[in-house]
Amino acid sequence: MQTPRSVEAAGQGATRKPGALVQIRPAVPADAVGIARIWQEGWADAHLGHVADALVVARTPASFAERAHELLADTLVAVRGDVVAGFVTIDGDQVDQLYPDRAARGVGIGAALLTAAEQVVITGGHRHAWLAVATGNARARRFYERQGWIDDGPFMHQAPVPGGAVAVDCHRFLSPQR
Ligand SMILES: CC(C)(COP(=O)(O)OP(=O)(O)OC[C@H]1O[C@@H](n2cnc3c(N)ncnc32)[C@H](O)[C@@H]1OP(=O)(O)O)[C@@H](O)C(=O)NCCC(=O)NCCS
Repeated sequence: MQTPRSVEAAGQGATRKPGALVQIRPAVPADAVGIARIWQEGWADAHLGHVADALVVARTPASFAERAHELLADTLVAVRGDVVAGFVTIDGDQVDQLYPDRAARGVGIGAALLTAAEQVVITGGHRHAWLAVATGNARARRFYERQGWIDDGPFMHQAPVPGGAVAVDCHRFLSPQR
């Protein structure tokens, strides 16, 4: 991943500003524990009630810890003081995982992370970024629309689990033309 230099998050496109003390920077190994906790909690908020039980069973605490380590090189974190307040991962032209900490929602950190991830995708030579959001995750869908992303319609996402995949009813969103 081409990593942006550390920037002061501006909350571009957000309705609320994350504040000048939030910095977006590439993740380092010491961030992994915080990323895993934020991911586990946020994944539950985003998915419980919207996905098959087989996927919930597969998303153990250990699975988030393992994946947080595996994806470190493709992760940006939002940091307030010394504390990780959210993260985003990028996979080619996909903004893959976007999770502000529960304690840091509603202040524009999600928007700052989304903008930074989109910049990584575009800098990588892609015309658009895309992402998948669970159809039942109405708050996230509203959030992406507020950021100007375009709902490209429903599709069945195959969420990877050990030994296979679980189908998840999702919508695909495309980043806007800038
Ligand atoms: C969707 C999400 C990424 C948006 O990030 P954010 O930085 O909170 O974005 P915003 O500041 O624009 O606020 C988004 C929503 O949180 C609400 N909010 C405000 N303060 C809040 C708080 N303290 N705690 C929780 N939500 C709050 C806002 O009112 C808004 O909700 P609305 O759309 O119903 O009006 C974030 O809410 C989140 O992490 N959700 C759970 C994980 C998730 O869905 N990730 C995306 C997977 S595709």
